[in-house]
Amino acid sequence: MMIKLGRNFATKNLVPGKSVYGESLAKRKGGEFRSWDPKRSKVAAAMMKGMKIPLKENQMVLYLGVATGTTASHLSDLLTKGMLFGVDFAPRVLREFILLSEVRRNLVPIMADASKPQKYRWLVPNVDFMFQDVAQPNQAQILVRNAKIFLNKGGHIFVAVKSRSIDVTKKPGDVFKVFKKEIKEAGFTILDEKRLEPFEKDHLALLLKWK
Ligand SMILES: C[S@@+](CC[C@H](N)C(=O)[O-])C[C@H]1O[C@@H](n2cnc3c(N)ncnc32)[C@H](O)[C@@H]1O
Repeated sequence: MMIKLGRNFATKNLVPGKSVYGESLAKRKGGEFRSWDPKRSKVAAAMMKGMKIPLKENQMVLYLGVATGTTASHLSDLLTKGMLFGVDFAPRVLREFILLSEVRRNLVPIMADASKPQKYRWLVPNVDFMFQDVAQPNQAQILVRNAKIFLNKGGHIFVAVKSRSIDVTKKPGDVFKVFKKEIKEAGFTILDEKRLEPFEKDHLALLLKWK
């Protein structure tokens, strides 16, 4: 369940009384809600810019670049009957996500390189939604590789693209154009796109549909 709390969106806290990254908690009709900070989460930033995320409470989700789980914690609030598999290759951040998964039973941590999905193929079921925030030059390739293995037909993807991680020498608009072309050629439909200023500089969020 999601509501507006002041200017921010807020999700109903799956673990009442516990804040995950210092976000504020507020009691409202229906329970306790956690403010979803658009400066800390690109999904929240995209929603503040008007993007609708068609995530349902009972879906299976694969999150590439889950880090400590700031964004994933809010998705966990929303996935009351679903599961989120979070992949990251950095042990330092994944350690925090593992601790989070101990109190949030719908989170499954996976330490792996997202460019090698065959390594975690046996662990992850088919999913309805993918999130990707890896800030890597080959992130389009990583996205396509994972979608081909895990994403159900008609499934959705939220992807955050940081132009400087792909090519610092090119203008952000040109980097995004190339990224979108690559994604369309791989068979995705772009349902929506939002630049993330003023929350993130030179970032584009895309909502995609697979086949
Ligand atoms: C910008 S942070 C993600 C923040 C997170 N999405 C959130 O909103 O809470 C990017 C993360 O991607 C991870 N990453 C980058 N390349 C990766 C790869 N090939 N495989 C797995 N994780 C990767 C990094 O370790 C880092 O934790």
